This record gives sequence, C-alpha cells and structure tokens, in this order.
Amino acid sequence: MTTSATSAEPPADDLHLARQHRRESSARTYSRRLPVTLVAGEGVHVRDSTGRTYVDCLAGAGALALGHAHPAVVGALRAALDTAAPLTTLDLDTPLRDAFVQTLFEVLPPSLRGGRIQFCGPTGADAVEAAFKLARTAMGRSGAIAFGGAYHGMTQGALALSGAHGPKAALGALGGDVQHLPFPAAYRCPFGAGGERGAELCGRALRWALTDTHSGILPPAAIFVEPVQGEGGVHPAPASFARTLRGAASEAGAVLVADEVQTGLGRTGALWASDEVGLDPDVLVLSKAIGGGQPLAMIVYRDELDAWEPGAHAGTFRGNQLGLAAGAATIRHVVDHGLAEHAAAIGERLLDGLRERTTGLPVVGDVRGRGLMVGVELVDPERTDADGVPLPDGALATAVQRAMLELGVIVEIGGRDGAVVRFLPPLIVQAEHVDQVANAFGKAVWSAWRAR
Ligand SMILES: Cc1ncc(COP(=O)(O)O)c(C=O)c1O
Repeated sequence: MTTSATSAEPPADDLHLARQHRRESSARTYSRRLPVTLVAGEGVHVRDSTGRTYVDCLAGAGALALGHAHPAVVGALRAALDTAAPLTTLDLDTPLRDAFVQTLFEVLPPSLRGGRIQFCGPTGADAVEAAFKLARTAMGRSGAIAFGGAYHGMTQGALALSGAHGPKAALGALGGDVQHLPFPAAYRCPFGAGGERGAELCGRALRWALTDTHSGILPPAAIFVEPVQGEGGVHPAPASFARTLRGAASEAGAVLVADEVQTGLGRTGALWASDEVGLDPDVLVLSKAIGGGQPLAMIVYRDELDAWEPGAHAGTFRGNQLGLAAGAATIRHVVDHGLAEHAAAIGERLLDGLRERTTGLPVVGDVRGRGLMVGVELVDPERTDADGVPLPDGALATAVQRAMLELGVIVEIGGRDGAVVRFLPPLIVQAEHVDQVANAFGKAVWSAWRAR
C-alpha cells in the first residue's frame, strides 16, 4: 500500500479506541473484536493508526467490490464533485440518476430488464422493507415466508424476516406476519440428511407449507430468500432448491424476492447469484456493492407488480448522488473487467488454499462457499449434536479472527454461535493475496487450537 500518512491521521495510540468504547453504544459489533483505527485504504489493503497494513477480507461486509480508493470509483466521485452535481435531490431526476439506471438495467437478469426500480433509504434493510410492502400491496396479502439462518437487516420488518434470535429476543412482536422454514445446508442439515436429499426435503417442507390447507401458514404475499445465505454462515442454495422455490412461489401466487444485498454484482462468481441457480426472482433487493461503497439501496421488480400509489415508499436519501456515481462506475468496471468470472476462479483458489492449510485439523468442520463468499465453520470435536455432527465453536472462531488480525488479515465471523470465519475480500483480490489469507488462516487455526 502506498497511501501516505496525512495530518488528519489519529495518533498511533489507543486514544481513539478508548473514546469509541466510552461514547458509542453497546450495540457496536465489528469494532469490539477488531480493535483497530483505520486511517487509509488502497486496493485490498487497509492501514491502521500504528502503520500496520491488513488484507481486508471484511471489505465493508462485502460492500467494497473494487476495494479501497479504486481509481474508477474515486474518479467518478471526483467528477461528480467537480461538476457541482447537486448531491441530494430526493427522487428528482439528475444525469447521475439517469446514467445509473441505464447502466444497471443493461446488466440486470433478463426477466427484470423490462421492470421498475424504486430507490430506497440508503440501506439494505430499507430496501427489504420496500420489497415486503410492495408484495403486500400487489398481492393483497399480509404474510411472508423466510428461512432459518436468513439475514435481511435490522429494521422491524427485515428483522422479522431474519433468523437469528439474538437481536429479536428483547423485542417481542415485530413487523409482519412471518413464518420461517428450513434452508438447505450440506453440513448440519436441518433434516440430518445433507446434500441433494437435504435440499429436496427443504423443498418438500416449503411445498407442504404452501399447499396444505391445514399447514397453519396462510398464503403469503412473498417468499424472501438469499441465494447464498451470508450472515447465517455462508450457505449456498442448491439449484434444485432454487427451482423448487420458483415453481412453488408461482403456484402459490406469492412474490419471490431475492435478497442480493450481499451476493449481488459478482460476489458469488456470477453477476447475480439468482441467475446462477435459476431462481428467476420477481423482486431483486440490492445495496452494498451496487453503490460502489457509498450508501445506496433499491429494489428492482417486474412491471406488473407496480401497484403502489405515489408516496407508498418514500425517504429523504432515495438515490444518494455520490452513491449513484460510484455505483454506475463500479457496475461498469465489474462487467468490463470480468470480475464475476475472476471471483469464481480466485474463490476456488481460496477454498482450495483454506482446505489444504487445515487438512486433518478436527476443529475445521466445513469449508464452503461460492465465488468470493467463503466461510469456514469451526467446531468442537469433543461435543456433537444428535446427528453426530460436532457443535459449532464460536469461541475458537473469535480467537482465530484475533490471531488473523495479528497476522495482517481482517476477517468477519458469523453463523450459528458465531463459529463461521467469513472471507469477503474485494473482487479485485489477486492470487498472492488469497494465498497470504489462506496461510494466515492455517497458522491462526493451529495457534488458536493449541492455545485452548
Ligand atoms: C442479505 C442481506 N440483506 C440485507 C442486509 C441489510 O443491509 P444493511 O446493513 O445495509 O441494512 C444485509 C446486511 O448485511 C444482508 O447481508
């Protein structure tokens, strides 16, 4: 990394971290486990206030498709500022807005290219709320089906759709009438079967819920799915399950919503993870990478669903102009440079590297992923569930995350018990970086395991 120090940098001590600890709420997350003050970023690297550099496999939880300070993004932001583009215009038309929409619609899944877009408040959660409201309005029904392990955001409706109990436990009733069904997982399958059989059984549960008039689940307005569950611990939906979902949603008259907030724009080795498995959604929810690292969120949906009255989903920051500029530049760069294909190939190298460096280690339960959405589930081999699968070991994952930080790599953790070490590097990551990450992971797991 070549970025030079500037006078704006904080001093190289822990003053900032102490202030953060004292002032920010106890809902803080990443900064608890990653106690660094980041002062600069370039490409796949970030540098902290002590001068140490790290390979950033957190990358704004996948938002930084092109990494830090990419020339295409910085150039687009500079151009917007230099031309005095109005930065906040609600939903009034601007050249940046028009250019973004044109660019996005050229690369959408074919079935949505004739559709509509609604810009939302600039977070994934607000776009999920919009999708839920649109489906209810269009279908004249109130409920939704979502899946165990899902993560759709932290607002009330999005949280109602999410699986993890932690953030819901203290809240009581949330927005929306939501039923959760099992999601396929090859490792720790909810039916104890795994593989294609496990996916088939999850499909059967879904069909039963939608077709049995005594299932207890009223016909839903929508079915929400992540084509690869991210925060839930990196679980890719098998193509067979995606096809079942598509068919079952159509038969039940429910809107199929693909939440591609995390998977969208090349992350999983295809431009849209939905396309890869034949999900063919009615609504696509987008945020994170689509804004080029700036806050931007939207839904894109089939024209016939556009049953909204004016003002049905509004908000001040719908279509943040810097996000539109950075987003259009990012979409163009990802497409023109084949970064989805690159993510597929380099993601395989990362998976292979992680497996090789941890061969024979009983605490590594499963290494899985698609493209550059990769996770390793760490387990306690001494304790097993009813199917004989070792239990997740969140404490070990936390220790590995910390050890990796010491070795110069920032990773995320997620999944059940926080036991899945997650890798979401920028799509521009190169072979030498993923090899460095795999090496660091191997060392970190060995050292964390020995220290237990
Ligand atoms: C699949 C998915 N949906 C929705 C969200 C919520 O996005 P935001 O944090 O921008 O509200 C996330 C965030 O991680 C996500 O991964």
